[in-house]
Amino acid sequence: MNKVYAAFRSVGSYIPKNILTNEDLEKMVDTSDEWITKRTGIKTRYIADKDESTSDLGAKAAKKAIKRASLKIDDIDMIICATISPDYLCMPSTACMIAKKLGISNRPSFDISAACSGFIYALAMAKSFIESRMAKNVLIIGSEKLSAIVDWSDRSTCVLFGDGAGAAVVGATKNRDEAIIDINISADGNYYDYLITPGCGSSKPCSEESLKEHACYIKMKGNETFKVAVKTLTTDVKKLLQKNDIDTKRVDYFIPHQANYRILSAVSQALKLKESQVVVTVSKYGNTSSASIPMAINDLYEEGKLKPNDLMLLDAFGGGFTWGSALVPFSPLI
Ligand code: COA
Repeated sequence: MNKVYAAFRSVGSYIPKNILTNEDLEKMVDTSDEWITKRTGIKTRYIADKDESTSDLGAKAAKKAIKRASLKIDDIDMIICATISPDYLCMPSTACMIAKKLGISNRPSFDISAACSGFIYALAMAKSFIESRMAKNVLIIGSEKLSAIVDWSDRSTCVLFGDGAGAAVVGATKNRDEAIIDINISADGNYYDYLITPGCGSSKPCSEESLKEHACYIKMKGNETFKVAVKTLTTDVKKLLQKNDIDTKRVDYFIPHQANYRILSAVSQALKLKESQVVVTVSKYGNTSSASIPMAINDLYEEGKLKPNDLMLLDAFGGGFTWGSALVPFSPLI
């Protein structure tokens, strides 16, 4: 039997309409535009409406990706949603909610929890399902309403995050030139408490006490996370490039998870990438966790910069800790 490969066919994103600037945050907590800009590179982020949920954002991004893949809703045979801000804490999954909103039923739909690395994990799963012939067209989504799990009284985290969604269709192909070249995903649970929502799970069930402690919101050991992120990402990406004998000169776009400008510029410098190769959206959107990479790919696409056969190098790092990198040609059906 001929081998089947997985191709990255299309992308879409959705950005909520409410903008939150650093100046707005100055009025909410003891911070300044100068501190946020210097330490993170973030200027603005977008916030979903009260009645907009993670699946609303995800479904809107997904619709665009499906249309751009020239597929009908019925052609999608699997939905994987990466999120840390699901519509419902335990069930149903946000992927099921997205499926309902898209009018897709009788298809496997599930969420994965890999924090900011979620999109690369979802991509790896889509690739595996396609290569094993269990699916032909997998819809992968990174969608986050982080504003719902951010502690708006904690200046060390609330300035960092934003809401948004990105989606992609990964499809089967027999043409090896179109195929995703390689993906690496990994994790180290020893760092579980560096980036955590400590309350309202089974280890500390929702209670008056956990609510009072703001335990259901994101807590981060920012500085320690920063150091591990830069080191891990640099090593991980170098390994992926070496394993596939690919020089950074062949990479058209380096699209890292957008957590902090200082992290992505340190990694880009360590990899000796040119400024023109590095995609930066963190200034506009802040950190949108699993959505940041597909949102950045979508911006490139909508700006007309992403062309068929362009080679994308993706990397991400997040809570868990989890991390991953991927070498992905853009292979739309034309
Ligand atoms: N405004 C003003 N001052 C702030 C502030 C804010 N919003 N947040 C923190 N500070 C203060 C701290 O209280 C501290 O003050 P002190 O020196 O008097 O104690 C000082 O700024 C430095 O804090 P620190 O946490 O060491 O800053 P930093 O340079 O590490 O930057 C982060 C903080 C969060 C921006 C940075 O650590 C980071 O980006 N971390 C990693 C994020 C990440 O990669 N996440 C993984 C994927 S999601």
